[in-house]
Amino acid sequence: MIEDAINRNCIPPGGIFVEASSGNTGLGIAMLAKQYGYRSKIFVSNSCSQEKISILEEAGAEIEICDNSNGLGDFQSTQFKAQSYAAMQPNAYFTNQYYNTQNIRAHYKTTGPEIWKQTGGHITHFLCGVGTGGTISGVGRYLKEQQQNIKIWGVEPTGSILQHYLKERSIPAQIAPFESIEGIGRNFVPGSFDPTPVDHIFQVSQDDTKAIATAYRNETGILCGFSSAAVLACLHQYAADMHLKPTDTLVLFFPDHGSRYISKLYSENTKSVAHA
Ligand SMILES: Cc1ncc(COP(=O)(O)O)c(C=O)c1O
Repeated sequence: MIEDAINRNCIPPGGIFVEASSGNTGLGIAMLAKQYGYRSKIFVSNSCSQEKISILEEAGAEIEICDNSNGLGDFQSTQFKAQSYAAMQPNAYFTNQYYNTQNIRAHYKTTGPEIWKQTGGHITHFLCGVGTGGTISGVGRYLKEQQQNIKIWGVEPTGSILQHYLKERSIPAQIAPFESIEGIGRNFVPGSFDPTPVDHIFQVSQDDTKAIATAYRNETGILCGFSSAAVLACLHQYAADMHLKPTDTLVLFFPDHGSRYISKLYSENTKSVAHA
């Protein structure tokens, strides 16, 4: 997304890359902006973990904390504020991860080939969390081009709408707030979600995700990120439905690690509710 904006002269030298992010895409943008000689301004939700905000600041991003409790269309939301800030600043460019086809393309060009190569072409199933949809759409498209039979499976929190959208190609008549898992789960269909390569989307609860994260840490000493734990919870809950064979190669996609969620995932019992 950054390279595309620079190549198309969408941002003047030294300009500001702007994004609404739960932290991780924002961090990628902050790092690349710095490396290419630009500034970055990231609008994060007040539900974002303090660890992620600190890392963003260390990477040089300017941060603005927003309130997504009334949805991403609300004027106080990250998405709304990022978009309006970029519209009013002539030297700013909104990377717009939810509606930028370069999001899918980046995963098609890099993440997909990396997974194909690392599994020696033996991958049979790919399981990842779905937020903007960029990962599953880009990786899924690439993998299916290599081998049409690879199963592409997504995971989202219970109550998110992409499972319904994948099956019905419509949004549910009623969308209730749901318990969030940071990075995944939506109450709208992002433009960067291409359902074409996706075979199924599973849903897991916030409680099960937290429980599995803790169990995994206790057994392995590995702290996994929130959406990574959702993928583990999915495998745990739906293993019987997956009909996996001993010869299958299932890739579980872990976008980040648990050190960014110590305060939220590993030592806090409060629930967070997503409206967006
Ligand atoms: C921690 C984490 N998990 C999952 C996702 C979802 O990935 P995608 O937006 O490609 O669907 C993100 C997105 O930034 C993320 O930060």
